[in-house]
Amino acid sequence: MQACTIIIFGATGDLSRKKLLPALYHLDAENRLSEETKIICMGRGDSTQQAWHDNVTSYVSPKARDGVCDDLLAKFLDRVSYFKCDLTQAASYEELNAQLMNADNNFSSNIVFYLSISPSLFGVVGDQLAAVGLNKEDNGYRHLVVEKPFGYDQKSAAELEQVLRKNFTEDQTYRIDHYLGKGTVQNIFVFRFANLLLEPLWNRNYIDHVQITHAEQQGVGGRAGYYDGSGALRDMIQSHLLQVMALVAMEPPADLNDESLRDEKVKVLKSIRPITHDMVDDHAFRGQYAAGEVNGEKVKGYLEEDDAPENSVTETYAAMKVYIDNWRWRDVPFYLRTGKCMPESKAMIAIRFKKPPQELFKNTNIGNSHANWIVMGLQPDNTLRIELQAKEPGLELTSHTVGLETVETEDTKHKLDAYEALILDAIQGDRSLFLRADEVDLAWKAVDPIIEKWAQDNDHVDKYPAGTWGPEGVEKIRDSECHVWRNNI
Ligand code: BG6
Repeated sequence: MQACTIIIFGATGDLSRKKLLPALYHLDAENRLSEETKIICMGRGDSTQQAWHDNVTSYVSPKARDGVCDDLLAKFLDRVSYFKCDLTQAASYEELNAQLMNADNNFSSNIVFYLSISPSLFGVVGDQLAAVGLNKEDNGYRHLVVEKPFGYDQKSAAELEQVLRKNFTEDQTYRIDHYLGKGTVQNIFVFRFANLLLEPLWNRNYIDHVQITHAEQQGVGGRAGYYDGSGALRDMIQSHLLQVMALVAMEPPADLNDESLRDEKVKVLKSIRPITHDMVDDHAFRGQYAAGEVNGEKVKGYLEEDDAPENSVTETYAAMKVYIDNWRWRDVPFYLRTGKCMPESKAMIAIRFKKPPQELFKNTNIGNSHANWIVMGLQPDNTLRIELQAKEPGLELTSHTVGLETVETEDTKHKLDAYEALILDAIQGDRSLFLRADEVDLAWKAVDPIIEKWAQDNDHVDKYPAGTWGPEGVEKIRDSECHVWRNNI
């Protein structure tokens, strides 16, 4: 275990309270943090160390698996300190540097900077850290962890890259996509490459189409102010769902080296067939939830949410059809969709195979042949279902669908939050589960024409009642009538 100093910028914010500090507590509880590891929480306001420890206790306690343990909490709090910092003031960074360098404080010289702040501040923080030499790796590593959004289109993402690149190298940069930290998403990789059975079938000769769904019951809640400038396409598809697609579609990497893995994902993203402006309506669809009912509870429409601008056409549902023009996947549609205020919260991949070439049973009770499916549930459960046709018991020649299914119910001990895996990797310097700049760039390139077209057509968005699977008009992007969205595993 490598010792390190973790410095969280924006430690008083939502992400830090809900995810980062609980994840660090769990890593500590699992003995994954070395004795010398310390956590400095940067915040704007005044706070005594005791008051901050009380706050951290209140963030961590409700999230602790199996309840918080007093001894573990005391050990964790010993590592944690509060540092009042004005992000724009040089004096704050000089003081931080002095504290880090003071041998009496015993801070490890390996440092993870976690930027849980608005991207508009990345430049300021980077410059200030560089001004006191804290970006230099002379006596220990410096890892810079950044959160999405990585820009709001290809151009702004490139500008953000310039800002980051000014003071930190690509090798020092850890761009988080929390989907890659999910064990179930990593399982796509294991499922594909630890089994021989699938590989011969995993291509355009046998697979008819692929569906990747992320649905959530929650609406935008108090986030409409942020969300309205983003929308579902940017918020989920450009990032998480294109990453899931890349894992489904990629070639086996040469080895498990982080660059080998990312190279293969990049090859997939590079092969995405460009969607030109005139193709957008056939390839993408958006919707916005209207008032409805989710889980038996009345839910207001997006436009009634606090901070949602009047007449906003921001999409809370987006669907996109992607073609990957390479040897393996040419002409196989990948349908990606995401929505808020859906009937269920779930994420899954559904792969539909082609039908057998011969209609052998056409004139029997079995009738027309059925396609096989492989369905992988990513959340809430890690499920794998393979659907086959089998003869029904009895004298008649009839068939029914049988599912070979595994459900891996995680015991609470193994129910890791994605942030635990990712923070540990950032400490250990493993970048395989972090996005490389070219991945981010190519993902924007894939969605940019849709973003532009939708920004132009800004007088209409299809509505769907909260608690339904999205607007019916989405059917227009499908290639064939048998490409029907599958909502169940
Ligand atoms: C985030 C999006 O990146 O992912 C949210 O900004 C979304 O809008 C969330 O709700 C979904 O993540 P998960 O892990 O709950 O599926």
